[in-house]
Amino acid sequence: MTIFLTGSTGFLGGKLLNNLLETTDHTLYVLVRDIKKAERLIAGLSGDVENRVRLLHGDITKPLCGLDDTDIQALSGNVDIFYHLAALVKFDEELRDELFAINYSGTEHALELAKLLQAKQFLYISTAYTVGKRAHGVEELYPIDANVHNPYEESKVKSEHLALSYADHMDVSILRPSIIVGDSETGEADSEFTLYGFMRALDVFKRRIARSADKSETIYHVLGSKQSTSNLVPVNYVADVLAVAAKKAQPNTIYNITNPSPATNYDILTLIKNALDFHQLEIIEHAEPGTLTAKEEKLNGMISVFNAYVSRSFNFDDDNTQQLIEGTNVKHLNMPEATLKMIIEAYFEVSEQK
Ligand SMILES: NC(=O)c1ccc[n+]([C@@H]2O[C@H](COP(=O)([O-])OP(=O)(O)OC[C@H]3O[C@@H](n4cnc5c(N)ncnc54)[C@H](OP(=O)(O)O)[C@@H]3O)[C@@H](O)[C@H]2O)c1
Repeated sequence: MTIFLTGSTGFLGGKLLNNLLETTDHTLYVLVRDIKKAERLIAGLSGDVENRVRLLHGDITKPLCGLDDTDIQALSGNVDIFYHLAALVKFDEELRDELFAINYSGTEHALELAKLLQAKQFLYISTAYTVGKRAHGVEELYPIDANVHNPYEESKVKSEHLALSYADHMDVSILRPSIIVGDSETGEADSEFTLYGFMRALDVFKRRIARSADKSETIYHVLGSKQSTSNLVPVNYVADVLAVAAKKAQPNTIYNITNPSPATNYDILTLIKNALDFHQLEIIEHAEPGTLTAKEEKLNGMISVFNAYVSRSFNFDDDNTQQLIEGTNVKHLNMPEATLKMIIEAYFEVSEQK
């Protein structure tokens, strides 16, 4: 089979590429905007990379992802599965235009390209957080005008509708991971976003405090809900489910790739505090205006884009995913606290070496 991928130089895409190389003998066409970066990535992969991985230069913000005519002709009628992962994973309102150019128009260009190439199957990687401001995540489309927290979620809600509107041209399925964290075996994570953006901000704040004249044991408050949970999934689990989807995903079906037993924010912050050796952080549910110190305001400003996710719980159905992996060697996710601890510690070990 021939598989086409976007987003392979990213955190999840790199893991998926490796997985497909190791577990299949398919030929992998990888659309990248930075050939040098992609060459460095594939140099680190094992297996028959030379014969099985073909790099294509492109950019999803351009029509037909900027592929040239020669590549289009060579691939026409030859693509079995099109994985579309490329996206911008940032939540800031100021990035709205860029988020829509990459996530929404980029998805439209990927769908048009897949249609032109007569791809048989299109697997769109969305996010479980298209759930927006609802508390319960279902494996169905949410309304196109769903109430969401930020332009990232909005771009993904709209892209899901767009993807399924191509169902007359190819089989379309949507895969929705929750917050992706490091590998459950090694802790390794090539990400700066979501939980990693949050941890980096706390690390930066700790270093600032250490450099300042304030040597007291002042407690700094982080706004959030202690008993609410954050839904974290290891990147290798997500890649395993995506690999199974190539064989078994049903058309017009949505799969939440989520954690059935998510940890509480209190437990997650405790693990982060221990790994950082910074015990002056505490969660508070609410602060009256003017009651946070200037340093606390600064800290909460640094992590404000995450507030929507740490101030409440979401729970997600994942029955479709459970059915998808049934009878395969991918087991339904069970992430014990020890695994999460190892993943968090791995991040700070790497960041200390930088
Ligand atoms: N990380 C999470 O927690 C999370 C959770 C749920 C869903 N997801 C979804 O999973 C997918 C992968 O996320 P990730 O965490 O792996 O993101 P990532 O590490 O930021 O990777 C994004 C990928 O998209 C590529 N890309 C961005 N703009 C592009 C463009 N204009 N043309 C071509 N390629 C472009 C990047 O290429 P460069 O290397 O050139 O930048 C990179 O390969 C996304 O669709 C995301 O929405 C992620």
